[in-house]
Amino acid sequence: MRDNRNRPQIRILKDGPYVVTGKVPLYEKIITPHGKSNYVYRDGRELPQAEFYTLCRCGKSKNPPFCDGRHVEAGFDGTETASKANYMDRIVYRVPGPNLELLDDGRCAFARFCHRKGGDAWELASIAKDEDTVDEAITAAIECPAGRLVIKDKDGEIIEPEYEPAIEVLQDPQMKTSGPLFVKGGIPIISSDGDTYETRNRVTLCRCGHSKIMPFCDAQHINKDFVDGADDTNDKDKGGSNGISKT
Ligand code: FES
Repeated sequence: MRDNRNRPQIRILKDGPYVVTGKVPLYEKIITPHGKSNYVYRDGRELPQAEFYTLCRCGKSKNPPFCDGRHVEAGFDGTETASKANYMDRIVYRVPGPNLELLDDGRCAFARFCHRKGGDAWELASIAKDEDTVDEAITAAIECPAGRLVIKDKDGEIIEPEYEPAIEVLQDPQMKTSGPLFVKGGIPIISSDGDTYETRNRVTLCRCGHSKIMPFCDAQHINKDFVDGADDTNDKDKGGSNGISKT
């Protein structure tokens, strides 16, 4: 039998966790305001690295971001409700501009990287003429971790950042919540029914257990005040604190 453990892959278990194989690097990143209108990622805790691990999908684990089996006693319903159609077939909004075209599929994780100095991704794409504004519009689109926003240049070529396969566990102290899993670099995501979702450079997976478009994040973690409790174990002296704690 072929051993798939060498290849980066995320397999979703029915009403259970994400099974990650292929030695995918795992980091914690903290969404941090930078200046008046920009955001950056700050490094969070150092997380253990492994060939194979399982990540919590129900939001109940006491050992976040890893699964500790609590989905069973919680009676977690992890039914996958997201469309499996490709991004280009799910676009709900297009913003044409003089140099760029912005595409939007509406799957928002509310990470807010689309807000930049001078406007949001939609405004910037519609007006971007000079180099600075074009750069700002591109940054506003490509830093969207959910992959909601995709931007094309005037030749119709998609502009994407180059990401190596990795998973980033997001924390969002400004919103007093823990965020989704930012899956980078084209890691295949296999549904619990065996189908594969479109492999993309940027997507966010729900880990609060409340998304209405499971397995993807739709920002319900903010409505539900989801806090994973990882802050309890952070070493604040090392600057690793995510700045939020479970109440
Ligand atoms: S983590 Fe965002 S909706 Fe669950």
